Amino acid sequence: MIFWRVKSLDAILATAEKKSLHRSLSVWQLTLLGVGAIIGTGIFVLTAEAAQKAGPGMMLSFVIAGFVCAVAALCYSELSSMVPVSGSAYTYSYAVMGELVAWLVGWALMLEYSVAASAVAVGWSGYFVGLLQNSLGIEMPFALANGPFAGGIINLPAVIICMLVVGLLVIGTRESATFNAVLVAVKIAALMLFIALTMPVAEWSNFQPFLPLGEAGVVAAASSIFFAYVGFDAVSTAAEETKNPQRNVPIGLIGSLGICTIFYLLVSAGAIGAVGAQPVMGADGNGLIPGSRLLADQCQSLATAGQQPLVCSREALALVLREIGWEKIGNLLGLAAFLALPSVVLMMLFGQTRIFFVMSRDGLLPEVLSRIHPRFKTPHVVTYVTGLGVTIAAAFFPVGKLADISNSGTLFAFMVVAFAVMILRIKDKSRVRPFRAPVIWLVGPLAVMGCITLFMFLPTDAKLVFPIWSGIGLVFYFLYGYRKSHVGRGIDTPVGGEDVISPIRPLVDCDHDASTAQSKD
Ligand code: ALA
Repeated sequence: MIFWRVKSLDAILATAEKKSLHRSLSVWQLTLLGVGAIIGTGIFVLTAEAAQKAGPGMMLSFVIAGFVCAVAALCYSELSSMVPVSGSAYTYSYAVMGELVAWLVGWALMLEYSVAASAVAVGWSGYFVGLLQNSLGIEMPFALANGPFAGGIINLPAVIICMLVVGLLVIGTRESATFNAVLVAVKIAALMLFIALTMPVAEWSNFQPFLPLGEAGVVAAASSIFFAYVGFDAVSTAAEETKNPQRNVPIGLIGSLGICTIFYLLVSAGAIGAVGAQPVMGADGNGLIPGSRLLADQCQSLATAGQQPLVCSREALALVLREIGWEKIGNLLGLAAFLALPSVVLMMLFGQTRIFFVMSRDGLLPEVLSRIHPRFKTPHVVTYVTGLGVTIAAAFFPVGKLADISNSGTLFAFMVVAFAVMILRIKDKSRVRPFRAPVIWLVGPLAVMGCITLFMFLPTDAKLVFPIWSGIGLVFYFLYGYRKSHVGRGIDTPVGGEDVISPIRPLVDCDHDASTAQSKD
């Protein structure tokens, strides 16, 4: 009896119809939105971690992770086109599988968004420190630029960027669509330049051995590099504002995932071909674990001996360009990452605060979290609470560990969404589906199996964090949410309006969100 307290899909849809947004997004804008949300720390930083796990075989890892995202994306799109008012896995599961599953998904989404925000902040810090050193000759003390896992004390730049982003969110800063387009252009230009400069100097010998840690290494790297694709949900959540969603949403989704996969493949091929990507091995002949103290120590002794392998770098792509003689362009690429990554932190934190906000409006979290700032009209309490957690995590943990933990929550949420689509196809055959995922009985099970496989190949600590986190969530639910739930108490929580969750989509409907936030007062 886990499917209790189901929120009525009809009630959600009735409000959605009243609140429906203007359909203005073209297929190109949608694709751009997706690419903007996807490209970030994954390719700029985690390429090094993927290489440590798979060597040159990481190219296959990008394909595997991209495929799992593509099938999950098709499921996501079907639900978001049916329930366009609140494009989040939390609301979908509330409507299809009831409160307990929805709670678990919401709880998992906290891992996805908050920990991803921390991961991107730590990734940004690597580029910031490298830029200071290589462009201005300023050496930041190691202990203040690295957390304890890397042999330092605290990652101060990551703390500062988190605090800045929290401040911006509290005063209500949003990205405009134009600003997003500029940042997308900056990221794409940086990656294209990287490909153009590395490809001509690529050497075949650098691809050998292709699978130094075997097939298992490739799948393990896919589980981590999955992070590089997170963010595509931005496209499916924009379904309600898209012209002809039946045609444009899947094109936008698959298009943005496809474009990113091609970029990721070319960038990784360029990096491998130019400088090689062999893992650093331990005394026992196994690859050292990314983010571990052992690897950090080994990398430091290599650096003292004048060697800088790709897998040791915290600013992998900039390092490759410097190594092949393009010192200044390497710095320019660092500048592009420095400028573009904070917007990914902002998107992730924004998504997290909105999910907390809606869960608290549903009575599942304390109401104080949904309090709105009297002047800025933003959910400031929840933003500060989230910001504190995100900042602490960014201060002390390495980027790879954070990305893996974030992936564990995301994979769970995607898997539930795939189940939800299949359940609705059986339970509610005749409901209108503006977008139908093709061959759902193949796509759905593939999405579920893909998510489970990637989860199983995550490092043990990331795999353990998820059940422990869910266990804490269940205790919290039965002590608090179960008793206070509005659905459980028969209180009618308004759906739509301020309940619109725009997970990682602060950039499309700024006016709409601003007005709805105000109406809360
Ligand atoms: N896909 C996003 C990134 O790589 C989260 O930063």
